[in-house]
Amino acid sequence: MSVPEISAASSAPWFAAAYPLRAHNTFGFDVRARLACRVTSEADLLDAVRDPRAQDMATLVLGGGSNVVFTRDFDGLVLLMSLAGKRCVREDSEAWYVEAAAGENWHDFVAWTLEAGMPGLENLALIPGTVGAAPIQNIGAYGLEMAERCATVRAVELATGEAVEFDAAACEFGYRDSFFKRAGRDRFVITAVTFRLPKAWQPNARYADLARELARNAAQSGHAAADTITARAVFDAVVAVRRAKLPDPLELGNAGSFFKNPVIEAAQFDALRAREPEIVSYAQADGRVKLAAGWMIDRCGWKGRALRGAAVHDRQALVLVNRDNATGADILELAQAIRSDVLARFGVELEQEPVCL
Ligand code: EPU
Repeated sequence: MSVPEISAASSAPWFAAAYPLRAHNTFGFDVRARLACRVTSEADLLDAVRDPRAQDMATLVLGGGSNVVFTRDFDGLVLLMSLAGKRCVREDSEAWYVEAAAGENWHDFVAWTLEAGMPGLENLALIPGTVGAAPIQNIGAYGLEMAERCATVRAVELATGEAVEFDAAACEFGYRDSFFKRAGRDRFVITAVTFRLPKAWQPNARYADLARELARNAAQSGHAAADTITARAVFDAVVAVRRAKLPDPLELGNAGSFFKNPVIEAAQFDALRAREPEIVSYAQADGRVKLAAGWMIDRCGWKGRALRGAAVHDRQALVLVNRDNATGADILELAQAIRSDVLARFGVELEQEPVCL
């Protein structure tokens, strides 16, 4: 069905009513927005939220839609973030400072930094979504969080229309957490992120899966592992590990890890380990312990199981997938069943990662 355009004038932002969101959420749910607006600049953004047609409407900022579960049509204005551009804004003897606009595809941006000879983001290859979404939940994988490379985040405060520059400390990054996540989705809209990429590059290959893949590749090429670790080798290894475990949203709808890995107190962990000696855990700097939620879900027998069209991925139990025309409600019902089994067996509450609408 064609989408009725309300305004396509080049001087004004592009609006569409009853806009289909299927291609804008990685679960592939077939829902619509009452109104959608394509945002290509900060001026567009303010024009969109101040437009008379959008008054009194809820707003939703959508990047790649890789962290959202739609349970129904969105009765409001969706801002389709399409701000583009990436460049090295400055360099000093120690680092490159690279800025990317919020609408840039994350993986393409990571690949571009490597091509341009500015490594440092390679551990975060292939994460679905956009640059603007990355700081909100402080994306992380294979031993690196974006917080470690973030210099500043530029965001527009919708209430005042002012652009504000946050340094990394002001972003209050935590594990899959930030100031922006806690401030609420309507308050600040991220329009650009600047990364600091140190020139003294060191491979970060501590993560077991990654170290294994790198060693395997090195053995195949007949080199000692340490000789061959380049940023490109790390990038390729991360891509290979992710492809082996995590479903491509274009082939099988999903939102990456559906739950956060829970962090518990040391005393609770000791009691738990006495009952579950094989539990996979990571000691934290503050004495607490992070648990592998995927392992617990797997142990509860959920891996590969389905509830109507919603299923637990058969190669990574932390990922829920839209196997066969699932709705957001199906995914949430499956998530609830998993949560109660994990609580019953391990006494641990799982916290959902994606935003539910
Ligand atoms: N495990 C199982 N069964 C499973 C899944 C995992 O036994 O079905 C075990 C694994 O063998 C491993 C442990 O659990 O010992 C952890 O698994 P994995 O290394 O796959 O990582 P994860 O903790 O499940 C986290 C992130 C991922 C990130 C990977 C690699 C969270 C919520 N998830 O997953 O991030 O790619 O580490 O760094 O922190 C995402 O956030 O969307 C995401 C994919």
